[in-house]
Amino acid sequence: MSLLKITRLGHPKIRQGAEQVSTEEMHSRELQRLIDDMVETMRDAHGVGIAAPQVHVSKQIIVIEVSPENPRYPNQPAVPLTVLLNPTITDHAETMEDGWEGCLSVPDLRGLVPRWTRVSVRGLDREGHAVQLEAEGFFARVIQHEVDHLHGRVFLDRLPELKTLTHLREYEQFWKG
Ligand code: NI
Repeated sequence: MSLLKITRLGHPKIRQGAEQVSTEEMHSRELQRLIDDMVETMRDAHGVGIAAPQVHVSKQIIVIEVSPENPRYPNQPAVPLTVLLNPTITDHAETMEDGWEGCLSVPDLRGLVPRWTRVSVRGLDREGHAVQLEAEGFFARVIQHEVDHLHGRVFLDRLPELKTLTHLREYEQFWKG
């Protein structure tokens, strides 16, 4: 496995959108290795999720893992490693909730982003088996954030107003908790 270079805002891949992964690709050694590398890259950067366009690959792949010990998003409920190919949000709650988000592709910034409190997601696991899952709270937030990446959107696009945008140090100082 190896660490991948992360695309930052301004790199065209971040805004391009991603293609569906085909069945042939799914079973290729290259794709399985890419997924392993995405997991390693996410963990190394202390991310709670990463999408393939963030590692220069315009394919619909997201990887999510949340640990309460994660230093970037501490004390969030644990989510076991989840790999989703071609994910679609098929349903969501009626209500949204504000929460602080950052992004490995938008370093050093946080903003208060409204997201659906619960989502239903359909996609495939890394072996190509159909997956249907329900997520709420922070897990639902991370899914919405990562699926956005597959459509060329970043959390900044979801900010109702830019005035909550803060640098990380100022976030820690004034807004955390
Ligand atoms: Ni992101």
